[in-house]
Amino acid sequence: MATATTEPIRLPPRLRMPKLVQGIVWLAAKREMFGALSRRWGGAFTLNLPVMGQTVIVSDPDLYRDVYSASTDLIERPTDLLTLGELFGPGSTFSMVGAQHLARRRLLTPSFRAKRMGSYEALVEDEVLREIANWPEGQEFETHEPMLRLTLGAILRAVFGAEKAELDELRVLLPPLIALGCKLIMVPPIVRRDYGPRSPGGRYLEYRRRFDAVIDSLIAEARADPAFEERTEVLALLLRERDENGEPIPDRHIADELLTLVASGHETTSAGLAWTVERLRRHPSLLSRLTDEVDAGGSELRQTTIWEVLRTRSVLEGTTRRTKKRIRLGDWVIPENTVVILSIRMAHASEETFPDAASFNPDRFAGVSAPKPFSWIPFGGGVNRCIGAALANMEMDVTLRTLLRELRFAPTDAPGERRHWRGVATVPRRGGRAVVYRRTSKVSSDADAAPLADHAS
Ligand code: HEM
Repeated sequence: MATATTEPIRLPPRLRMPKLVQGIVWLAAKREMFGALSRRWGGAFTLNLPVMGQTVIVSDPDLYRDVYSASTDLIERPTDLLTLGELFGPGSTFSMVGAQHLARRRLLTPSFRAKRMGSYEALVEDEVLREIANWPEGQEFETHEPMLRLTLGAILRAVFGAEKAELDELRVLLPPLIALGCKLIMVPPIVRRDYGPRSPGGRYLEYRRRFDAVIDSLIAEARADPAFEERTEVLALLLRERDENGEPIPDRHIADELLTLVASGHETTSAGLAWTVERLRRHPSLLSRLTDEVDAGGSELRQTTIWEVLRTRSVLEGTTRRTKKRIRLGDWVIPENTVVILSIRMAHASEETFPDAASFNPDRFAGVSAPKPFSWIPFGGGVNRCIGAALANMEMDVTLRTLLRELRFAPTDAPGERRHWRGVATVPRRGGRAVVYRRTSKVSSDADAAPLADHAS
């Protein structure tokens, strides 16, 4: 575990290049830079970057364990570097640290525990069936857009409970709000400001005003409900919460948190699903094993496939922390106020933990009940580990099961889609394109006419 120390500072190997040049390379080719430097130096290296300053990049599972299990008195997620908190507002989990953050997690996590997921399964299946009813047969199309819609429907219903008219309004309003929010994360704060209704910052505020108006109406409806005290959806939990002085959470802060959950839940899971389609079309023998498994009522291979998709196509590239004291981290002594980035992608590309790491092979997880916690980290770890991990896994599982039961995906020998960073999530550059046939349709046999070999990766 990371510990406080007074030992002399000993940073991992550092890149000797002017700060500005390091910043430019970071912005233009972060992934290639990380890959090359970790091949050269192994599990940790140091960069000197504009804005962030001295930054330690980590990709060693032992160091992940040390960071994720360290006390928040030593190392914590910075709220000033991650603009997610700024976009969602001060009432968001992403804006909180210390006792306030822990109290919020205690309130929210029970709603997203694995054992609660059974109650959401039917609504996810319902969203999938509603969405695929319009998918064209025999024509290539992007699956990322439909996945965005269906994961939005699922998280809205998980957070707000039963279907209501306001949710239809949110289904229309949230996609452009979240897409614009993700773009604003990529630009400097000066560009994000409100320069009037046509500026990106002004448009974001206008979307946010409309979102708050819908939330106000949902809050009023919940408070007026005679059964309010018995309601268990997240909105009611937030409305009933009281701080140590007995004060309720301000309504605006409740809106911040609801936006946080809905945006985090839908942007990420939809990316995971689009990658699943992208991968499976390039692995036809896996695709047919998965279909056979669905028909036989099994789920083991489907679960290992989801783990392997999240390993090989990291939806989030990394998680960020900042030291609050001088700490010992493995062999290194890191000074106070240093940014530490835990690279999810590099952890998942480790040959030591995942032999033949570049190949897409769900069977590497065969027979295990869960992947190793500090080697497989798509959901991060420690006090900031993703609240929605079980929900995301269930959504991916039910969606994949329903897709395979209803549709036949035509395999492809096209090269794998490249990665495209949308500001938060990394998605397939061409949108996870698919060609599908209904399993009941005669045309579906065309999809099997020319069997293709699995891709090497
Ligand atoms: C495949 C889907 C998902 C992936 C890959 C993912 C990934 C992550 C990661 C890596 C973190 C940690 C950030 C950090 O340590 O700084 C995180 C945090 C978070 N995620 Fe997810 N997530 C997913 C789905 C969801 C869903 C469905 C929800 C909805 C409830 C959600 C809500 C959150 C929240 C609220 C946090 C902040 C936790 C905290 O700071 O205490 N995520 N997610």
